[in-house]
Amino acid sequence: MSAHLFEPVQLGELKLANRIVMAPMTRSRAGEGDAPTALNTEYYRQRASAGLIVSEGAQPSIHGKGYCRTPGIHTEAQIAGWRAVTGAVHAEGGSMVAQIMHCGRVGSRLNKDPDAETVAPSAVRANGKIYTDAAGMVDFDEPRALRLDEISGVIGEYAHATRSALVAGFDGVELHCTSGYLPAQFLSTGTNRRSDAYGGSVANRVRFVIEALEAMIAVAGSARVGMRICPGNPFNDLHDDDPNETFATLLDAVRPLRLAYLHVIRSPRRDLDAFALARTHFGGPLIVNDGFDQARAEHVLAAGEAAAVSFGRAYLGNPDLVRRMREGLALADFDAATLYTPGPKGYTDYPSAP
Ligand SMILES: Cc1cc2nc3c(=O)[nH]c(=O)nc-3n(C[C@H](O)[C@H](O)[C@H](O)COP(=O)(O)O)c2cc1C
Repeated sequence: MSAHLFEPVQLGELKLANRIVMAPMTRSRAGEGDAPTALNTEYYRQRASAGLIVSEGAQPSIHGKGYCRTPGIHTEAQIAGWRAVTGAVHAEGGSMVAQIMHCGRVGSRLNKDPDAETVAPSAVRANGKIYTDAAGMVDFDEPRALRLDEISGVIGEYAHATRSALVAGFDGVELHCTSGYLPAQFLSTGTNRRSDAYGGSVANRVRFVIEALEAMIAVAGSARVGMRICPGNPFNDLHDDDPNETFATLLDAVRPLRLAYLHVIRSPRRDLDAFALARTHFGGPLIVNDGFDQARAEHVLAAGEAAAVSFGRAYLGNPDLVRRMREGLALADFDAATLYTPGPKGYTDYPSAP
């Protein structure tokens, strides 16, 4: 069905005032105990005219944290911090879902609580380095392979994070299922060397993601749960022998769950049209992402190929992106040097258009 950027839309139980979604962006500015602060509240409040804000990735447990200063969504203090964020967004008429991000093998113990472990489907270390406040760039941790009897506990972390998100006032939750993090590690042949029910065949490799979604749905209901994918994404040393088959199988299994939406990032592979694959195998509402400007976003909506479009980098320097697009105002650039640095600089100090 043909639509326009500034028209409202309902995705499951999520009511969007327009079809401009703020894409999830890690900004590494959480406070003590990985809890959101007044600074985070102000950042999201400034951007609340988006039809929907997807929060930066938030870890569902101490083990799921990979990067420095990312917020959690599993303790009372974190819930209290997020409650201020969602309250501010709602007061401005916005809506917001929490992106649940378990990094799995992508992490350093230097970024984590001393009691945390780095776990993954298999003990395969990611090639590459990660930033830490303590020691600068360091090798990724060597992960410990999860035992079969531990997997239900990790699934339980997604349920707990979903419960926490609802208590914190979020309108829903989004499963982060790309960028080389834990769910993507289960999906992909390069990172999943298991020979039990969670590895080997594609039917087994999708099991973890389906169980995580089912756990989230059991808490929030399917109409408040979304998922984010990017088939063929090589980020964080991820490799899959056949992403087409993996994602077709995954989405065929997800379809009957009737999620609120699927958030699809364009595939970096020329031989894989992620949006077409999602339309064929998922069937429900799509939020599409990656490299869209206003004209391309209008085009994809007019063609009826998506329900909404998400914008990441454009939201960094343009808190009032909706108004700028509506009124044809120029877009501001952003400063890459302050993407992940603490404090308000390069975070809450981008002005709205006069
Ligand atoms: C600073 C930054 C942080 C990001 N953090 C996340 C994240 O936490 N979770 C996620 O799913 N994607 C993350 N992304 C990816 C964006 O959501 C988005 O997919 C990407 O920027 C492409 O969209 P764009 O062309 O509109 O910027 C991040 C991107 C940027 C620039």
